[in-house]
Amino acid sequence: MANIVIVGAQWGDEGKGKLVDLLSERADIVVRYQGGNNAGHTLVVGGEKTVLHLIPSGVLHQGKTCVIGNGVVIDPVVLLGEIDQLQERGFLLDSSLMRISDRAHLILPYHKMLDGLREDASAGRIGTTRRGIGPTYEHKVARCGIRMADFIDADVFARLLAENLEAVNQRITALGGKAMELQPILDEYLPCADRLRVYVTDTSKLLHDASAARRRILFEGAQGALLDIDHGTYPFVTSSNAVAGGACTGAGVGPTFIDAVLGISKAYTTRVGSGPFPTELTGAVGDQLHKAGGEFGATTGRPRRCGWLDMVALRHAVRVAGLTSLAITKLDVMAGLEQVKICTGYKVGGEVLDTVPAHLGGLDDVQPVYEVLPGWEGDLTGARSFPELPSEARAYVRRVEQLAGVQAALISVGPGREQTMQLRDPAPSARTQTHPRHQVID
Ligand code: IMP
Repeated sequence: MANIVIVGAQWGDEGKGKLVDLLSERADIVVRYQGGNNAGHTLVVGGEKTVLHLIPSGVLHQGKTCVIGNGVVIDPVVLLGEIDQLQERGFLLDSSLMRISDRAHLILPYHKMLDGLREDASAGRIGTTRRGIGPTYEHKVARCGIRMADFIDADVFARLLAENLEAVNQRITALGGKAMELQPILDEYLPCADRLRVYVTDTSKLLHDASAARRRILFEGAQGALLDIDHGTYPFVTSSNAVAGGACTGAGVGPTFIDAVLGISKAYTTRVGSGPFPTELTGAVGDQLHKAGGEFGATTGRPRRCGWLDMVALRHAVRVAGLTSLAITKLDVMAGLEQVKICTGYKVGGEVLDTVPAHLGGLDDVQPVYEVLPGWEGDLTGARSFPELPSEARAYVRRVEQLAGVQAALISVGPGREQTMQLRDPAPSARTQTHPRHQVID
């Protein structure tokens, strides 16, 4: 397999964890490149469910190297909790199998407090996960964040923390919160730094060296293209670049490093948190999808909003994330509906839009234009090849491919690894001896 990026092609929760876990079998290294523990990637292996928030979903394959890249924001307490849980179950026992970028930024208690206070002050305007993601990226861009390399040097960490606390406490108290003290944070976090030190390194160099040695790399996106800070439904977005380009900046590799981009889309649409959702269903069909799909957020447990598949949004994702193929998940959940609908455009006034408008409120009053297809009956969860699917379900997939302009490589009909059918290779090996990144210059 060539180097591949796996990204969400909707508003997150598309089933990336399962697909990353599955394709990790063919990779040597799995890399997270953006977001933090706002993500919740659910994996079901041998009937056992694991939810990962920070550690790449490749970790359940023994012997794979997991990398947390510079673009990820790391809550050290959460990360250590995840490491402990995995080690108790026999994974990650070899510390050389996980590497954390020395340039990744830290989520600290005041980031979480600010996230919560701001949500409370604005009655949950964005509906964030309250994990401190936005405030941490703000500090990164404002050039006052604390990075892993600083964290593992106790003196530097203490100095930067003291400087930051002074400024941040003013904002906390202005929002009605209680100012934070330096010492309790040091007491809790310095032991975390001691434990994490062994994993911290220059992961960009590691990835380049690995690629030169022909090791195969899988980049695991979090959230989805419509939650991307630049290309999503701003301001109802997360604070990082969830599109495939984020893999370059968030892992320290160039675009030439990437051979394929697999976009994951549910067969319908879901969204957690606030923000526009043109195809949202609030009646019986929405309830059916919600129930059959078990649609609750893996991180916050919040119910997910459900709706028909939105091809305007999906085509936007195909473009901004440069998808080379699609994986369509949860096709089984739609069984039992008499008719299924696909949104092909947005009607506003007398006009039909076929792209996502940028301006604030631009999606609020659009009426989805639907194409109606016959639904399908029966239990799809046992299907293992495309011809085994009901003809209506196959026609639905073919129509989605046509409208997306990208072929489906994988179809998922349940949470288990085995409940997946491959229609084509999502990352055919594109490498040749003369690829620029493998040239030896004398
Ligand atoms: P934040 O990333 O916590 O700042 O939240 C910003 C928006 O992104 C909110 O609407 C969240 O619900 C949404 N969000 C963040 N992470 C995920 C995810 O992993 N899946 C789905 N939605 C997410």
